[in-house]
Amino acid sequence: MGQLNMRAVHKTYGTMEVIKGIDLDIAHGEFVVFVGPSGCGKSTLLRMIAGLEEITSGEVQIDGKRVNDLPPVKRGISMVFQSYALYPHMSVYENIAFPLRVEKMKKAELDARVRRASAILKLDERLGHKPGQLSGGQRQRVAIGRAIVREPSVFLFDEPLSNLDAALRADMRVELSKLHSELDATMIYVTHDQVEAMTMADRIVVLDGGLISQVGSPLELYHKPANLFVAGFIGNPKMNFLPVVCESSGLDGVTVRLEDGGKLRLSVAGRPGMEGQKLTLGIRPEHLTTGGGDLQLTLLPRVIERLGMQTVAYASYGKDETPFTAVLAGSAPAAVNQPLHLGIAGSDCHLFDRDGVAFERDVALTDLDPTQLLQAAS
Ligand SMILES: Nc1ncnc2c1ncn2[C@@H]1O[C@H](COP(=O)(O)OP(=O)(O)OP(=O)(O)O)[C@@H](O)[C@H]1O
Ligand SMILES: [Mg+2]
Repeated sequence: MGQLNMRAVHKTYGTMEVIKGIDLDIAHGEFVVFVGPSGCGKSTLLRMIAGLEEITSGEVQIDGKRVNDLPPVKRGISMVFQSYALYPHMSVYENIAFPLRVEKMKKAELDARVRRASAILKLDERLGHKPGQLSGGQRQRVAIGRAIVREPSVFLFDEPLSNLDAALRADMRVELSKLHSELDATMIYVTHDQVEAMTMADRIVVLDGGLISQVGSPLELYHKPANLFVAGFIGNPKMNFLPVVCESSGLDGVTVRLEDGGKLRLSVAGRPGMEGQKLTLGIRPEHLTTGGGDLQLTLLPRVIERLGMQTVAYASYGKDETPFTAVLAGSAPAAVNQPLHLGIAGSDCHLFDRDGVAFERDVALTDLDPTQLLQAAS
C-alpha cells in the first residue's frame, strides 16, 4: 500500500513542455518532499499524481497499478492545498465528514472516522464550530482532517503551511511529522521552505525546469550536492561560488588556485588532463571560521547582521567583487568595509567542473555533526 512509481512522465501545455521526463520510485511510508524554484513543475507533478491534470505521456502507478486514466477518487490518495477551501456554512464536523458523505458512508462508520481524525488533530473541542471561528492553524488542521478521513494510502500536500505565521508553521510541521508516523501512510509534500524540507523529509527531490536534478536524504543533498544547481538551492544562506583554476589533479586530490594566488587541495578524485581548467569552488557560509583553516580568504563586508547566536556578513571577494556570505558563530569581530580574514577547511569545500557537475566528496554522512543540519535549515 502507498507505493508510487513514475516512469518517463511528461506534461505539455500546448507547445510548452513543463514536465520533461520524470522517473521516480517512492516506497510505502516514505515522506518525500519536492522542492525547486517557482515554476519548475512541483504542483503540476503533484496534480498529475492526484489525477487533477492529465498525464501527457509516461505512466504513474500506485501500488503497482497504472492510474493514468483513473479519476482522483479512485486513486487512494488525498490532497491538501495551500488555500484550504473549507465550507464556511458547515461545522468543523461536517467539513471533515464531507468526503465520506459524498461516498454515502454509513453513519456509524462516518462518525467513528471523523472522531478519530479530530482526536489525532486535536479538534475535538471544535467540532461544532464554523471555520470562521477558527484560527488559521485550526482551519488548516480541518483541511488535513478532511484528507485523513478517507484513509488514503498516499497523502499529497501542496505548500499546506505557507499561509501560516512562523510559530504556527513550526507547530504544524511537528504535527505533520507525528501524523506521518501515526498513519503509516506515504506522504508527498511540496514546499518552498528549507526548514520543512530538511526536517520532515526522508528524501528530497530537487526539481529544475521540469526535470529531477537530484534525489537524496536531506544530509546527502547538503553534503554531497551533485551539481551547482542543487548546491546553490539547498542551504540558507546559499553556498558561495568562486572561480578557480586547476593547478594539479590526481586520483586522490585536486589542487586549485584562487584569483588572489591562494591554493587549496581538495580530497576529490581528479580526472586526467584537468590542469589549467576553470573550475568552481563551493564554500558554505557556515563553514568559514575566524581562525585557522587550510585556505585564508579576505572579504570586504558590505552589510553585517548580528543575530546574537551568529553574525552574518554579506561581503564581496576579490577584484571582481564576487558576492560572498559568511555566517560566523556568536558576535564575531566584523565591521562594514573593514577587511575580514577568514579560514576554511579543505574538507568542507565543494568542487564543480566546467559543466557544473560536482566532484564526489569522501564524506561519511553518519559521522556528521547534527547541528550542521540545523544550521543549514535555519
Ligand atoms: N494550466 C496551465 N496552462 C499553461 N501552463 C501552465 C498551466 N499550469 C501550469 N503551467 C505552467 O507550468 C509550469 C509549472 O507550473 P507549476 O505550477 O507546476 O510550478 P510550481 O513549481 O508549483 O511553482 P510555484 O512554486 O510557483 O508554485 C509553469 O511555467 C506554469 O506557468
Ligand atoms: Mg506550486
